[in-house]
Amino acid sequence: MRIYENPQKTSENRLHPRSYYIPGGISEYQILNGKWRFAYFKRDIDVPEKIVKWDTISVPSCWQTLGYENPNYTNINYPYPCDLPYVPDDNPCGVYEREFEIKAKWGKVYYIFEGVSSCAFLYINDKYVGFTQGSHLQAEFDITEYVVQGINRVKVKVLKWCCGSYLEDQDAFRYNGIFRDTYILQRPENHIKDIEIIPTDREINIKLDGDATVCIYEKDKLLTSEKINGEYSYTVKNPILWNAEKPFLYRVEIERAEENICMKVGLRKVEISEKYELLINGVPVKLHGVNHHETSKNKGWYQTDKELRKDLELMKELNINCVRTAHYPPTPKFMEMCDEMGLYVICETDLETHGFVRRLPNVVAQYDVETGEWPATKQEWQKEYVERMQRMVEYFKNFASIIMWSTGNESGHGENHIRMIEWSKARDASRLIHCEDASRKGDIHNADIFSGMYLEPDYVEELATREDIDMPVFLCEYSHAMGNGPGDVYDYNELFDRYPKLIGGCIWEWADHVAMDGGVQKYGGDFQGELTHDGNFCCDGLVFADRSFKAGTFEAKAAYQPIRVRYDTGKLSIYNRLDFTNLVEYEFSYWIEVDGEKRDEREMRLPINPHQEVALAINYKPIDCRYGVYLNTQLSKEGKIYAVTQHALPCEILKEEERQLADLKEDAHYIYASGRRFQYVFSKHYGAFISMIVDGQEQLAERVKLSAFRAPTDNDRKMKMLWGNYNIWQGENLDCAFSKVYDCCIDKDQIIVRGSLAGVSRSPLVKYGLYVKVYKDGTIEFSLNGKIREDATWLPRFGFEFELPKNIKAFWYYGHGPLESYCDMRHWAPVGMYQSTVEKEYVNYVCPQEHGNHYGVKLLRIGKLAFVSETGFECNVSKYSTETLYRANHTDELREDGKTHLRIDYKVSGIGSASCGVKLAEQYQLKEKEIQFKYFIKI
Ligand code: GAL
Ligand code: MG
Repeated sequence: MRIYENPQKTSENRLHPRSYYIPGGISEYQILNGKWRFAYFKRDIDVPEKIVKWDTISVPSCWQTLGYENPNYTNINYPYPCDLPYVPDDNPCGVYEREFEIKAKWGKVYYIFEGVSSCAFLYINDKYVGFTQGSHLQAEFDITEYVVQGINRVKVKVLKWCCGSYLEDQDAFRYNGIFRDTYILQRPENHIKDIEIIPTDREINIKLDGDATVCIYEKDKLLTSEKINGEYSYTVKNPILWNAEKPFLYRVEIERAEENICMKVGLRKVEISEKYELLINGVPVKLHGVNHHETSKNKGWYQTDKELRKDLELMKELNINCVRTAHYPPTPKFMEMCDEMGLYVICETDLETHGFVRRLPNVVAQYDVETGEWPATKQEWQKEYVERMQRMVEYFKNFASIIMWSTGNESGHGENHIRMIEWSKARDASRLIHCEDASRKGDIHNADIFSGMYLEPDYVEELATREDIDMPVFLCEYSHAMGNGPGDVYDYNELFDRYPKLIGGCIWEWADHVAMDGGVQKYGGDFQGELTHDGNFCCDGLVFADRSFKAGTFEAKAAYQPIRVRYDTGKLSIYNRLDFTNLVEYEFSYWIEVDGEKRDEREMRLPINPHQEVALAINYKPIDCRYGVYLNTQLSKEGKIYAVTQHALPCEILKEEERQLADLKEDAHYIYASGRRFQYVFSKHYGAFISMIVDGQEQLAERVKLSAFRAPTDNDRKMKMLWGNYNIWQGENLDCAFSKVYDCCIDKDQIIVRGSLAGVSRSPLVKYGLYVKVYKDGTIEFSLNGKIREDATWLPRFGFEFELPKNIKAFWYYGHGPLESYCDMRHWAPVGMYQSTVEKEYVNYVCPQEHGNHYGVKLLRIGKLAFVSETGFECNVSKYSTETLYRANHTDELREDGKTHLRIDYKVSGIGSASCGVKLAEQYQLKEKEIQFKYFIKI
């Protein structure tokens, strides 16, 4: 049996795992990142073998992003047969080689990998040192006996697959190589091996193998300096505790044999309350989390320290306080940053075996938590499982930010998990254990948390109130952020806030995964040789691959924001959702906006304790206005905005002036209306305007149409079949819609159209009467009464499509903006008067789709036309047609057609997160059967 196919033999000569630290003092740290020689082979070769042709490669890296193989993205399916524990005979292999210098031969020398996929054979000076697998887990080798003073050579053979690959079936591009830091440590002979620092909320408990001098500092103040042996406990007087909002760290310096190791220690306590709340230092905390994969736009799995720091900075900016390291332990630098910057971490080990789902006829994949197939139930795999937990816990045990250990993701639930959990509980009682599959199976008491993913809000509420669920409920994944979205994150968080037992969750997931190809973002199926792939399912980030934001990003920010604010007749109540911070640390401001114009801005500091509410009296008497009056609030700190809220105020909407109807003229085909500034032509055949000349300029590039389709968003994925022509036997075929005019006439100076809209092969979806009035000043009034077929599914949208000439650049609207907004995704898009351009409305989703809508619009001024409605409409201005967005799979396939596409919609359905999350909530579906829509065009 080959070593790399033997689950009992996960390593050779790899050292027992220890806690992470980089020793200083006399010890030397030599990072080997940088240029290496590299040779790629299509199959495993014997090493050391004479390699004649070397390339140069930069380490860390993934060889697929450097052109050695095409990238392959697969979610559940293994990219090779499911034939445990074997991997394909042709197992590609990369050999890395470089020199390093040992200036003087002394002490002990170690070689460390932070991450290498899938397994590595290490050679020093052409002698075999050892073997390791477990891609995202640290591996350390003692190379003292192999090195010489002066120049040495390290060679690493990396295989694409090993039996460990079966345990690393995470939903992502599959990459290989030395993808994280690799380095050498030279240390004194009798150096410290392991350091264990278990803090409570007042003590620092240290455990060492042997003696050392320990100094503890609070900032620069030395608290104690002592010689210790083995175990030592120090009680801090007036301790400053660590939490995600105020991540204070003590410094512990440990010295033995002139080697100095500096550890940062956060004092904190993690507990579960009687009400099953999550307590951090005794305070109930909600986790406003996100799942983080290590993924970089250009470098695959390798994120530089700078990129990782940027991710965390952006999270802090977005009010995120928690990260689940999905679905493997992070690079230790990431953990250091979480400690320092303040994030609660669910540290998950490198484990997912999703590909063992059962394939049943008519069912894509059946997730049976426990069948004989899953390695979780097999004794010969136990070592692999337990060891993956041990390696993570031992390495990361000193990081304050870790509040839970997680056994991995989607791996079934078997005996091997139970062993992992038992071991962890015995090893570290200071943290909680998370095992998503245990809850799936119903073995909830194996772990400390009831965990679920993408659970229906109703079910979450049921769990929150069920007595047999005697533990906190945590959504390790919810609000699938794919494409345009997520739209359901706010409502989930309202729910979490309502029940003590609901401790929050982690949005799936932080950033889009893409593979770049000729400057274009590509995904699964775009590369030759992908035997199985999952399309763009990897483009499901809350932020884009380059970490820029979309509307969904801000929606999450609003859901997680530090305040909830209510307005009720003269009273503005501000609730502080923070757990450890008085709101006085932020600047709070509020103002009134009349028709989008700011008035009476007030700025202040509000001393509000965590979890407390304070009310401000607002002196307001209803004002006359055209569109609306709102009270806006904002919370900011050091120039960054952390929260926005908006509250409608009562107001008097000014009455429209009386208008007189214009005279209509008609011939066999057309109806004409004209006045001082305008000439309109209405087609009786199509029941629509075909020309609108205002001040001598044509405003239409096409006739006006009715439609109900939108280019499906990723979250419309499952609805696509019901709307689009994916499956001609189902659905409404809205993408191939026919508009029919039954008759059109003038009656009492009003144009009346009766008609229908129907998908190909379908009976009409809607039958309508349209009433059009033209006034002497050029104003047009549209009133539509529509009846939707009883058995039709909910509609993507319903309204009018205008095609305007391309020369339109800027336009103005009063509605939810400036971000795109939908009925369920508008918490960071307050109503206001906004100026935009066609260009600015475009959102660069990896797979083109519906975007750029504005909800709750009362005025849109575009070209020489002003669309107005008292009750509001939704609008969308785009340089691309719906058809173009619908057909394109990548951004480089988008073509402009020389027109500006404008939608004036009665309603647009919400966004939700049903790409993987729950179905769109009913209140956001356009499902009414009677439609009455009225709006005006003024000139
Ligand atoms: C979950 C899984 C994640 C990811 C997500 C879909 O079931 O845990 O890893 O695959 O679905 O994006
Ligand atoms: Mg999975």
